[in-house]
Amino acid sequence: MTHLHDFIKALPKVELHLHIEGSLEPEQMFEMAARNGVSLPYASVDEIRAAYDFNNLQEFLDLYYAGMSVLQTQRDFHDLTYAYVKRVAENNCRHVEIFFDPQGHTERGVAFETVIDGILSGLNAGEADFGVTSHLILSFLRHLSEADAFETLAQAEPYLDRILGVGLDSSEMGHPPSKFARVFAKASDMGLKLFAHAGEEGPPAYVYEALDILNVDRIDHGNRSLEDDALVKRLVDEEMVLTVCPLSNLKLCVVDDLKNHPIKTMLDLGLRATVNSDDPSYFGGYLNDNYIQAADAVGLSKDEIVTLVKNGIEGAYLDEMRRTALLKDLSDTVSAHR
Ligand code: HPA
Ligand code: ZN
Repeated sequence: MTHLHDFIKALPKVELHLHIEGSLEPEQMFEMAARNGVSLPYASVDEIRAAYDFNNLQEFLDLYYAGMSVLQTQRDFHDLTYAYVKRVAENNCRHVEIFFDPQGHTERGVAFETVIDGILSGLNAGEADFGVTSHLILSFLRHLSEADAFETLAQAEPYLDRILGVGLDSSEMGHPPSKFARVFAKASDMGLKLFAHAGEEGPPAYVYEALDILNVDRIDHGNRSLEDDALVKRLVDEEMVLTVCPLSNLKLCVVDDLKNHPIKTMLDLGLRATVNSDDPSYFGGYLNDNYIQAADAVGLSKDEIVTLVKNGIEGAYLDEMRRTALLKDLSDTVSAHR
């Protein structure tokens, strides 16, 4: 088994589903709370980790938004982002496409510019120090209104050259993709790529809406698509990339046991599944942990692991030279492990 773990660690990988605020480690949370004079409802790092026990998405989101309150200055966003890039570089991750939730910050009086300038400087420093390339995705909070999303999109206009696309996250049930049809159309007109969380807790109908009404370029999660054979066929035919997050699915009870995680079934069906960490600080593992624990639980072969990594490299927004280089690095690493 350790051989397989070493194999996973050695592969050059990408991460396509990561909320930067979900990489806030408890230690950092305490540090930032102290320097910003924010009081936390926890006495220790252990107490924070013990609180991360969720029955569903909403229970997680409540703590996720509370945890964000320590993020106040540009330096905080820089430090948060740099720490994440350093961690994934140690996981041999070479490229990341990360979400940020501006409304989680502007809602509490932190300026949009403070947030994005800090994240961008963290990404730049991370690339300079570790060679990890990146894209940034502005995610709308779906429990808020479409008008709020339009306002956030307007704030992003001066930064369009540094933003890959828009996403849709937060409480899924009752907030279908169609609620954001107009703002996604506007984002598309502005040249942005389109992403949406769909089928994490929501029904297959929400995945159809993400495809038909929002015209998304990737589906985040997508697990519940498996309940609808016609939808699966369509996702396969359209070569739609799914950004799947095994440890997130376990922690949020989307699956009852990692042994029952559909990642292998997705590959068997021909779906373009990828492996990602979602909110690693809250869900108990970064990128390698997600591959390793999923592989152990469902019994992934080396070939299946390579397919998952390859789906990520092919599903990323890389220039063709870098994509070719990463694919070559992948095949060289696989050959070296034969
Ligand atoms: N689902 C929905 N919203 C989120 C998530 C998630 O997994 N993580 C952060 N915001
Ligand atoms: Zn997510």
